[in-house]
Parts: sequence; C-alpha cells; structure tokens
Amino acid sequence: MNKNVFSYCIDAKKLTLPIDWRSVFNREAELVVELGFGNGEFLVNLAKENPSRNYVGFETSLTSIVKIQKKIQVEGLENVRVFIVDGQFGLREFFEDESIQEIYVNFPCPWPKKSHEHRRFTNEEFVRIVAAVLKKNGFFQLTSDVDWYVHDMAKLIEASGCFGEIFVWKNERVVLGTRYEKKWFSQGKVSFTVKAVKVNHRRVERWTWGEITMPHVHVKNVDVEKLLRLKEQVFHHERGVFVVKGVYASENEYLLRIVSNESNFQQRYFVSVEKKQDGWLVKLDPDALAYRTYVVKFSVRKIAEVITT
Ligand SMILES: C[S@@+](CC[C@H](N)C(=O)[O-])C[C@H]1O[C@@H](n2cnc3c(N)ncnc32)[C@H](O)[C@@H]1O
Repeated sequence: MNKNVFSYCIDAKKLTLPIDWRSVFNREAELVVELGFGNGEFLVNLAKENPSRNYVGFETSLTSIVKIQKKIQVEGLENVRVFIVDGQFGLREFFEDESIQEIYVNFPCPWPKKSHEHRRFTNEEFVRIVAAVLKKNGFFQLTSDVDWYVHDMAKLIEASGCFGEIFVWKNERVVLGTRYEKKWFSQGKVSFTVKAVKVNHRRVERWTWGEITMPHVHVKNVDVEKLLRLKEQVFHHERGVFVVKGVYASENEYLLRIVSNESNFQQRYFVSVEKKQDGWLVKLDPDALAYRTYVVKFSVRKIAEVITT
C-alpha cells in the first residue's frame, strides 16, 4: 500500500487510551518501542529487519517526526507508527501492562544542568512504567556516551527489584548506526549500554484511561466580565496547575488558551465557551485538543465554575 508520507504519525489525543494496537497495525504482533528516535535510523532498520513485529516511536521534535516518516515511506514499511509526545507519557498511557517486548533509548539528551534534571529518563517513575508495560522476559536497553547517565539508570533499575539480569557494557565501536552515535564516535568518544530483563511486574497509575467523552460542562449564564479577566490566572489542582494564557472573543464564542503542567508533562490547548440556544457550553476545543489528564478535565470544570453567574 502506498501511503501518504504523513500517515505514519498518529494523534493519540483523538483515541481512547490505552491504544488498541491491533486496529492501528491491522494485525496482532509483538510490540517494540523506541523513545527519542531522532533521525529514525535505528527504528527503521529494526522494522525492516523484523517485518513480523510492530514498531512504535516517540519523539518531541517535529523535524524528527517528518524525517522518519519519509524514511518509512521510502522503505515501504507497514509496521512502524510514530507519535509526537513525551516518551515517558506515551509509554505509560498508550500501552497495557505487559504488552511490550523491547524498549530502546539511544543517546537520550543527558540534560546535565541541575535545573533540567527533571527532563531525564533517569527517574524512579520512568523505571516503574518500564516495569509495568514490558512483558515478562522482555527487555529495556539504553545506550549513551554519558557514562554517569547509564550508571544512574542501572542503579534505578536494580533498586526497582523488577529486573532479573542487568548488564552494563562499554561499546568501542559504532553498533546502532544512529546520528548521535556516529557523531560521538567520530569525536573519539565511546558509548555505554545498560540492558535489563524484566522478571517482576509493577503496576502504575494511568492518568487518561477509560475517558471516552471530551470533558464539557453546560452552564445557564456566563459573566463575560469574569471570563475576560481570566487571562494570566493560575489554578492549582492536587495533580498540577493550569494557566489561562489568553482569552479570544468571536461572535457567540470565547476561546481560552491554556497551558497545563502535571509532573512536568506540559500541554497547550484551548477551552471554548460557546453560546447555545439554552445557555453556554464549556468544552475542550476540538481543533487544539489535549490528552484528557486530571488537570485538563479540571480546567474545563474550573473555568465553567468561575465564569458562571
Ligand atoms: C541526542 S538525540 C538522539 C537521537 C537518536 N536516538 C540518535 O541516537 O541519534 C535525543 C532525541 O530525543 C528526543 N527527546 C528528548 N526528550 C524526549 C522525550 N521526553 N520523549 C521523546 N523524545 C525525546 C529529542 O528530540 C532528540 O531527537
């Protein structure tokens, strides 16, 4: 099938989570995941070499998403799908427990500054998620030129008690073929790998599962003055926070631009307040959707509450 070059990237905000992978790939097959695939060489090569498996990639860079889709199309691969979303979020929200065979991270951004530490994959929650979504005897593998990053990950993996065999080794030559691997080796660096096989299961809480309907609230009357004053107001929830960054008016409708943050997962979206025959409808705007997390649902309810007369 000759697909459109942009049809390999899925917008999971429109789906019920966890994702029904059988309907995404039109078949049942083992799942393999890569977080932060960059130019996509590794994921595309794996998918080419193993046509009987399904491959899922996560990236936060739009350029990477465009580049990999061109590669997938040129190779004519039907077994790869990619998502533009934080890999830790995608791993937790898109997959059932014990559903993935292998998870790879190659040359993750090390975020060496203390103020950026929270962006690293080396955190306990990440390891818990990996231990939840991997199948028993499935494995996690991370490679980096930064030795402390690999050793930090190995320590977290060991402390979780979910992995039986944990191997750490040094690579003296290019083995994965990714852009960053080649870059660091061309500068005389080496790389390190940690690989761990899952033996014990872990449960993690999901933020978005089971939510089919878009959050919405009907209100009888709206205080437009209050609504217009919402700009730059911050609202706190036990799970995080949201800020109204802008309020835009058109005939019979107001659009509120929102930025939310929960456990460092940031989303930007719109909430609309629309005049209906019998009142007003406050809802997530379908043109700029968000994952229906606790704070996103809270933002719709809270806005409806504060603008009601
Ligand atoms: C240093 S590059 C390595 C790319 C590729 N794996 C390689 O080896 O050439 C790190 C990549 O991870 C992506 N990235 C950073 N944080 C991410 C996250 N939380 N989830 C998914 N991808 C992420 C970046 O956009 C970038 O493309």
